[in-house]
Amino acid sequence: MPTFANIETFTNLLSSALDEGIFISIHYSNKRSFSTIDKIQCRFLEIKNAPQISSSIFQNDQNYIKNDPPKAFLNNHKEWLPLFKQIILKTNSETIQLLVNKKQKGTLKISTQKNEVINPNHNRSKNYIINEDAPFLHSLGISSSNGKVKEKGYKKFRQINKFVEILEAHLPDEDPKDPMQIYDFGCGKAYLSFAAYYYINTVQKQKVNLLGIDLKSKVIDQVNQVATNLGYDTLRFEVGDITKFQIQKMDVMIALHACDIATDIAIAKAITSNAKLIIMAPCCHKQVRKSLTPSPVSSTIFKHGILEERMIANITDGIRGLILESKGYKVKIFEFISSEHTSKNVMILAEYTGLIKNTQDDINQLKSTFGIKNHYLESLV
Ligand SMILES: C[S@@+](CC[C@H](N)C(=O)[O-])C[C@H]1O[C@@H](n2cnc3c(N)ncnc32)[C@H](O)[C@@H]1O
Repeated sequence: MPTFANIETFTNLLSSALDEGIFISIHYSNKRSFSTIDKIQCRFLEIKNAPQISSSIFQNDQNYIKNDPPKAFLNNHKEWLPLFKQIILKTNSETIQLLVNKKQKGTLKISTQKNEVINPNHNRSKNYIINEDAPFLHSLGISSSNGKVKEKGYKKFRQINKFVEILEAHLPDEDPKDPMQIYDFGCGKAYLSFAAYYYINTVQKQKVNLLGIDLKSKVIDQVNQVATNLGYDTLRFEVGDITKFQIQKMDVMIALHACDIATDIAIAKAITSNAKLIIMAPCCHKQVRKSLTPSPVSSTIFKHGILEERMIANITDGIRGLILESKGYKVKIFEFISSEHTSKNVMILAEYTGLIKNTQDDINQLKSTFGIKNHYLESLV
């Protein structure tokens, strides 16, 4: 078949899927150099009982949503198609991948795979990516059996949704041949492991292996049982110390509130495993505090305990960010949730770009200004 026909065939398959009501999602990724849009993820939704295609458009570190009726969506598709090298269409029975080369020659790969629509009702009015009735929320005690979040579960529910929003905006492109490999270091009760897995596996229909690791065997037994009961066969948890953990392949590393240097160990593992995305919220910052002999300038403000605590947290995380930049990551540090939910609300997000910055002088200067002898992450990478 002439290759141009493949591109046309793909658009015809999309058109039929929209007409027949079997469309589930379409993702545009691997952007061309001239494209100002990084990626687009579209899924089927019902808004006030009318079918809509909701498109999440990622551009300039922002993400905006556009909802269109299926017919109008086809025009978007024709406009977006030339901007990307890979487009993956999911219907309720097939996954269809279109790869387009520089000469606009297309290759189609079709695999049969049952993709069920999960609750297409629109609830973005509250901006929740994870619906209240997601089964894992009930299993973890956040919602009740009628699929409504319990009063005391709302904080966690919002935190989970905020986390998944961030994950959605930065998730590496899907590789249809290879499942995405995610590690959650210091997973604890694993709310975020379940949320990430549910979003990628059940909502996005992507193949994913997620392994959560924690020191506490009782918690790990419990969360493994929950994963088994939910039939999440590629979500697993293991008891272990992340320091000693051997990594085969890592695409995404998650570490939320892993204690003190556990965060540094998690970052080092991610760097040495060439993780594409690192999402973490540091916890306590004891190591740098212990290695500190306040310099004359820092002692003028460190005499106030709260300022010392905050400054050390900021310097520790700032140096983590600089080290990540020196290893080819683009780093963003921001508050991921309001401080009324948790005071440990700083998130470090690092995406691998390969652009290496020389940050050593800045790190040295920070350390000498504040009287820090060593930062544990420096000794690991
Ligand atoms: C504050 S809890 C956070 C749990 C979970 N990530 C969350 O955000 O709900 C920190 C967890 O990190 C685990 N942890 C600390 N050091 C660890 C290490 N070296 N290896 C594995 N787990 C570790 C602890 O057992 C604990 O469950």
